[in-house]
Amino acid sequence: MSYTIKTAEQYKQAYQHSIEDPEGFWAEVAGHFFWQKTWDKVLEWDFRKPELKWFIGAKLNITENCLDRHLATKGDQTAILFEPNDPAAPNRSYTYRQLYESVCKTANALKANGIQKGDRVCFYMPMVPELAIGVLACARIGAIHSVVFAGFSANSLADRIKDATCKMVICSDYNDRGAKHIIVKDVVDEALAMGCDSVKTVLVHRNTGGKINWREGRDKWWHEEVDHQSHACPAEPMDAEDMLFILYTSGSTGKPKGVVHTCGGYMVYTCYTFQNVFQYEDDDIYWCTADIGWVTGHSYIVYGPLLAGATTVMFEGVPTYPDASRFWQVCEKLRVTQFYTAPTAIRALMAHGDQYVEGFDLASIKVLGSVGEPINEEAWRWYYDKVGKGRAPIVDTWWQTETGGILISPLPGITPSRPCYATYPLPGIQPCLLDQEGREIEGNDVEGLLCIKFPWPSILRTTYGDHERCRQTYFAPFDNYYFTGDGARRDADGMYRIIGRVDDVINVSGHRLGTAEIENAINTHPQVVESAVVGYPHDIKGQGIYAYVITSAPVADDNTFRHELLDAVSKVIGPIAKPDKIQIVSGLPKTRSGKIMRRILRKVASGDTSSLGDVSTLLNPEVVDEIIDGALNE
Ligand code: WT7
Repeated sequence: MSYTIKTAEQYKQAYQHSIEDPEGFWAEVAGHFFWQKTWDKVLEWDFRKPELKWFIGAKLNITENCLDRHLATKGDQTAILFEPNDPAAPNRSYTYRQLYESVCKTANALKANGIQKGDRVCFYMPMVPELAIGVLACARIGAIHSVVFAGFSANSLADRIKDATCKMVICSDYNDRGAKHIIVKDVVDEALAMGCDSVKTVLVHRNTGGKINWREGRDKWWHEEVDHQSHACPAEPMDAEDMLFILYTSGSTGKPKGVVHTCGGYMVYTCYTFQNVFQYEDDDIYWCTADIGWVTGHSYIVYGPLLAGATTVMFEGVPTYPDASRFWQVCEKLRVTQFYTAPTAIRALMAHGDQYVEGFDLASIKVLGSVGEPINEEAWRWYYDKVGKGRAPIVDTWWQTETGGILISPLPGITPSRPCYATYPLPGIQPCLLDQEGREIEGNDVEGLLCIKFPWPSILRTTYGDHERCRQTYFAPFDNYYFTGDGARRDADGMYRIIGRVDDVINVSGHRLGTAEIENAINTHPQVVESAVVGYPHDIKGQGIYAYVITSAPVADDNTFRHELLDAVSKVIGPIAKPDKIQIVSGLPKTRSGKIMRRILRKVASGDTSSLGDVSTLLNPEVVDEIIDGALNE
């Protein structure tokens, strides 16, 4: 596509254009897509409400842009290349034509089962092509998909189904992930027993084919519903601002919120950023190792790559199965050209030793990407030297579920790249740093709260069913800014380095979790009176989970109690939220107004008790020494 930036000069020009005339800039980018009707106006916005509308009055269907548009020129090109969990199993693949037909058939099956435009459909599935097909089938008919990561518990799944009042759940029978064999359908049954009355149908994809429990009338096999359908399905005309999907993400308070993205702006932005950040060219094989349960999978496994007509790899397995060379074995086998993963995976593989990456032919790799959490210098170097062999630039891409697409990132081989730096904003993005009072910090070599001054096409539109919460969380903290929740530094060259969350959100192995959510889960244990959860630096996970727990009476068996707590957290949220460390305490440091002093707890958890500051104003200063004495530091 001609809007691809190829030189530093073009980047500067595009950026300048996007700032001086955002509407003109984005109209030009949007001109590269297929619209059933073009827009009357490019943008209307008011951060204070918030009201965010892009390509007003336009009609489109994102799947016509992902699929139909490519049929004439790329019908026989591979769209999805599936790498199963079992390395000995064959690669399944879908050409653009096959994917188009599968999506249409599935869309017809959804319609036959009563799904209409605007209905919500929940997905709870492993990383198999049917997940991408199902998501696109929803988009084809204007149904709103809500994908829930299949590592979440029945409880979390039920919360999300209920919040979005989903009419259908699409799941698999089983999931083989690494050496684990998980009965996915049982988790769905368990969730549906928790009062998910809105669900009329469960569509079950036969993945491994074992025996599963069945509820007649409600449960239906994917193949029985889909296979006989016609492979033509008209694309529903969608307003640019109609909802495309809901994706739940954790915040600092309460239950996860459903971030809402809409059709037009999301399409334009994910494709534009995919094309530029990964510099995808014809015949490339692009692989993003994320799960479609997270936004990275939505934007950079499914939508961005398919919009750009790319070949996108979907990987069912895990980095360490059958051993720590799996990623590199697959890169060699599939001749991967762009590889996009998370720092936690890089650190874990690095810890297994260089022998797992050495000896593989990785010469096909042109671009390496990192996403989800800050990448430390050691991991960055290892990635660059051992995986990229010093030839492939690294793009450290900073963004969020709420931003829909990458906002700050180098362009590989075009703009400079530097360890630990997401570097410069992409065209259309106007970042700034604020101090605690909300004043903009000008100049370079400064640090502050990362905010964005101007909307971009894929900014979240609302949080599902609760617009006020969206305003409170992102737009109320600082007047007329979008607040990211991250702290950042801008160095002498104006490059951005993301430091991490400044709110009560922690990032564990690239999974975003609210400390309050974990506390609520811990507090379900009958013996727990109160708890406080903080993050602490963890060599592999980035952040580990440290829980301070007050019990109603001394625990009889320490080990049993700890296991019960871990079980409680797995049950309420999922195994990803299990604390790494649990310290039983008699009290938590509190201010006179009763607020937990998390600053102190974070310091103790990180093993740094040198500068706790003045604790004498606390309600209960005496607990601080007890907490330090009992701290679980290696
Ligand atoms: C949070 C958003 C965006 C896809 C995956 C995560 C952290 C994300 C980076 C990066 C440092 C990063 C931030 C952000 N984060 N990318 N390149 N460098 N930190 O999406 O679950 O919505 O989490 O992830 O703290 O706020 P998410």
